[in-house]
Amino acid sequence: MIVVIDGPAGSGKSSTAKAVAANLQIQFLDSGALYRVATLLYLDVNKDLPQFFDTLRESEISFHFKNEKFHAYLNGRDVSDQIRSMEVSEHVSEVASNPDVRAHINDLMREVVKSDIYIADGRDLGTAVFPDAALKFFMVADLDTRAQRRYQEVKAQGKDVTLEEVKQNIAGRDEKDSNRDSDPLKKADDAILVDTSEMSFEEQVAFISEKIERLI
Ligand code: C5P
Repeated sequence: MIVVIDGPAGSGKSSTAKAVAANLQIQFLDSGALYRVATLLYLDVNKDLPQFFDTLRESEISFHFKNEKFHAYLNGRDVSDQIRSMEVSEHVSEVASNPDVRAHINDLMREVVKSDIYIADGRDLGTAVFPDAALKFFMVADLDTRAQRRYQEVKAQGKDVTLEEVKQNIAGRDEKDSNRDSDPLKKADDAILVDTSEMSFEEQVAFISEKIERLI
């Protein structure tokens, strides 16, 4: 069974999904992290597209969720911290707009979720990747709230960024993610809209957990 949460950057999808997964003892899949791992490969080959596709095909991208932590691996190496760098954030939407990259990551996700109950977060999960998901949520919040949340997150990791840089990055990604040709960020018609601008984190988690609990 799969439940999906889509929405723009910083809307609270990942942290909410993670807490819901821990609460309900189900698995969590951060699809953005997989695009970020692909972006590491792209940067490793100096943005050489043919070489990037070769390496992507030959590489193993995997992940593991334990104790409310999502770990992403590239060829067995834990790259969870590296994928959160500003450099990766600046290039990830460009990489994710490529239909071959999307097909590769989608195949990987569809295979993995066959084996357990998952809550996954992303941009196009309810519309393109898992159109038959058991439940779909679309999480939104105003830009200032989202920028402030992301800023606190990156600062807590000791990174040297300004609020304005974070705000520009997420606004730029939203723009690219919403306007790309292949599977743009979009609310599925049957997704439940959750505006977290005025909701506490606990309220978000309780709202979503309660709806899933009715199904499992
Ligand atoms: O969720 P996160 O902000 O880490 O995602 C990073 C980027 O990955 C997004 O800005 C988007 O370009 C891409 N992405 C995507 N489709 C998904 C999840 C993420 O295109 N399902």
